[in-house]
Amino acid sequence: MKVLAGIQPSGDLHIGNYFGSIKKMIDRQDKDNVYAFIANYHAMTSVKDGPTLSKYTMQAATDFLALGINPEKTMFWVQSDVKEVLELYWMLSQFTSMGLLERAHSYKDKVAKGKPANHSLFSYPVLMAADIILFDTEIVPVGKDQIQHVEMARDIAVKFNNEYGESFFLPEHQVEAEVATVPGIDGAKMSKSYGNTINIFGEEKKIQKVIKKIVTDTTPLDEPKDFESCNIYALAKLFLDKNGLEDFEERYRTPGEGYGHFKLYLHDVMWEYFKPYREKREYFENNQDEVRSILKMGAEKAALIAAEKMEIIRCKTGIAY
Ligand code: ADP
Ligand code: TRP
Repeated sequence: MKVLAGIQPSGDLHIGNYFGSIKKMIDRQDKDNVYAFIANYHAMTSVKDGPTLSKYTMQAATDFLALGINPEKTMFWVQSDVKEVLELYWMLSQFTSMGLLERAHSYKDKVAKGKPANHSLFSYPVLMAADIILFDTEIVPVGKDQIQHVEMARDIAVKFNNEYGESFFLPEHQVEAEVATVPGIDGAKMSKSYGNTINIFGEEKKIQKVIKKIVTDTTPLDEPKDFESCNIYALAKLFLDKNGLEDFEERYRTPGEGYGHFKLYLHDVMWEYFKPYREKREYFENNQDEVRSILKMGAEKAALIAAEKMEIIRCKTGIAY
């Protein structure tokens, strides 16, 4: 299977990004053809400061490698290093109706939150479609919020194929129910834009502070508590195995402990889970040249595939003359 996903370098990675997308890519590396890239053109829609965008790009690359992207197995590159994607973006624009883009939830949400409604924000799904279908992707592992974008990529590919004959494979999204929407500390979807994230590689003190802010009900210490509606439990669930989870549920049923104790436990479990990754991160942090050469190698491989595909597409569309 060809599995592809991009992540925007628009800030610190959080555990919603990890369980919703990154981990799924990493887990598939042994059995599938995994294509992972850093979507820095997409990030321009929110990061307007040049030095910050380039810093975030290297930071995302460092984080991905630390979390287990293996460049021997996975094609790993930065979006802007394979320019074919921009050419395809233009070609796909011919097959993207205004109505399709006007229906995009993500665009509507962003504008409703006060982002200026400019063309890049509006045509964001077309660039994402180009990212996906350029590589004949079969599966796109994403969180629930991105399902519509993958469906739009399919719609656009169908229209192109109808016009020029079978050219692109039709991709499907992969969303797992348990991690479709990882909640933030307030119970809403964890998202950078809501300021409710728990970051993967934050400082321990800061993470402790954030975990302390997780919203709970006010059941007193000496009463049993409901784990199913509890945000601490929903987050701990991501890190615990079956036995660990059963033990934790028992602690909710048994009076005597409060949410403060459960928060400390969540911190410990999470801190332990990411420990090996923190160590690996430190290595890559100290060897940024190695990160750069990994990205370069990935871009070279991706560019070869992209060039070959676009050669065919240029002929079909008459752009090659
Ligand atoms: P953010 O909402 O923080 O800006 P992005 O839009 O950059 O995150 O998301 C990057 C990837 O992580 C996407 O595949 C997205 O679906 C996934 N993702 C982000 N937040 C969550 C979440 N809370 N639960 C599950 N997946 C998520
Ligand atoms: N829009 C995605 C997000 O915000 C990032 C992205 C860009 C992407 N291109 C992609 C994800 C292609 C999957 C496939 O998370």
